[in-house]
Amino acid sequence: MSGDEPNPARRRFLTQATTAIGAVGVGFLLVPFISSMAPSAKARAAGAPVRADISKLEPGQMIRVEWRGKPVWIVMRTKDNLDMLTEIEPVLADATSDVSDQPAYAKNPERSVKPEILVLEGICTHLGCSPTYRPDVAPIDLGADWQGGFFCPCHGSKFDMAGRVFKGMPAPKNLPVPPYRFLSDVEILIGEDQGVA
Ligand code: FES
Repeated sequence: MSGDEPNPARRRFLTQATTAIGAVGVGFLLVPFISSMAPSAKARAAGAPVRADISKLEPGQMIRVEWRGKPVWIVMRTKDNLDMLTEIEPVLADATSDVSDQPAYAKNPERSVKPEILVLEGICTHLGCSPTYRPDVAPIDLGADWQGGFFCPCHGSKFDMAGRVFKGMPAPKNLPVPPYRFLSDVEILIGEDQGVA
């Protein structure tokens, strides 16, 4: 075979490599991971608070940080997301978060300090899987009633855009809200709230 002739094995490899790089790139865009804002691994293990820069967060987007070895999600909700929180209450297991875990300042319908900014621990309250963020409305796999939220692929628990679990799910509680406070309009400290209400 001359050097100019196509080599099927090499062409297959290049196609696969390009596909893999494309997939990683898309995933990263959807859920960027703020590693640059995280403290050292040793400090994280000790539970040190973590700063999160939300200056580039757009409505509908989510970013993740790691705190105490757990994923913490920060979501900027849209007006439609917020409007839906009241409408959806009849089908939620704990709409007012009475048996769920959140700081006192997050025990409200939005479960947050600022209505549009949601901060959640990304650990399912059933057996500890990490749910996926599904902001899409009425997707085929989640049904026509789905208005956006979080879906746990392990046993199918569904949570709304405030991390509140739907009735009849394996998960017994809403997703927990960690302690946090705003250092500025564009920076959040996860893991410390100084007891601020
Ligand atoms: S771990 Fe999420 S539904 Fe079981």
